[in-house]
Amino acid sequence: MDGGEMWIIANFKANKNIKESIEWVELVGPKLKMQEGVKVVVCPSFSAIEQVKKTILVGSFPLMVGSQDISSFPKGAYTGEEPAAHLAGFIDLSIIGHSERREHLKETDEIVEKKVNQAKSNGIIPLVCVQDINTKVPDGSFLIAYEPVWAIGTGKADTPADANKVAQTFKQRYGEDLEVLYGGSVNKDNIKSFIKQDSLSGVLVATASLNPEGFLAVLSACID
Ligand code: PGA
Repeated sequence: MDGGEMWIIANFKANKNIKESIEWVELVGPKLKMQEGVKVVVCPSFSAIEQVKKTILVGSFPLMVGSQDISSFPKGAYTGEEPAAHLAGFIDLSIIGHSERREHLKETDEIVEKKVNQAKSNGIIPLVCVQDINTKVPDGSFLIAYEPVWAIGTGKADTPADANKVAQTFKQRYGEDLEVLYGGSVNKDNIKSFIKQDSLSGVLVATASLNPEGFLAVLSACID
């Protein structure tokens, strides 16, 4: 990280129900310290978003909320979709184009681009996941996460130096203002070496975020 902001984003994936998500926020929230330039974001399932947001507001916790996806469609006749217009006000950010969605839901670059546009036009920050240096970054993106598929949930993170090189490549291609995060087996032992890299602006953490105490350990490993 080279000045600027640092993002630490917890992605629950489809692991926690409403009750479990709230328990996590009630445990983590009071222990979070407001830190200049550090943004901590929790991304629960859609069903938990409203109550997670409410719990954060009641406790005045320095925690932002994100969704793990967003519809590529506006509101209207799209059964089962979760349009950005309905999420605005509850979330600050949306993860878009995660490799699990590209694989299991057949999300294409075209769909990812539409989702980015929906997020932006509803005041939601799109966080686009890119799997390697060939993944397309939609126009207008300003925050991406480099997440090599082989590093996700495997316990085998990419090296911080390689992640930094990939981040540099994206910045050269899309502009120095593009903020790049790293995700894939980030934990309390390796987080510091990632956020120290000059072209990385933070991390996306799934497995190591699920246990509240574990997530606090990840945070204190880099913030203190
Ligand atoms: P992981 O997943 O932290 O479990 O490797 C990261 C992600 O998929 O965002």
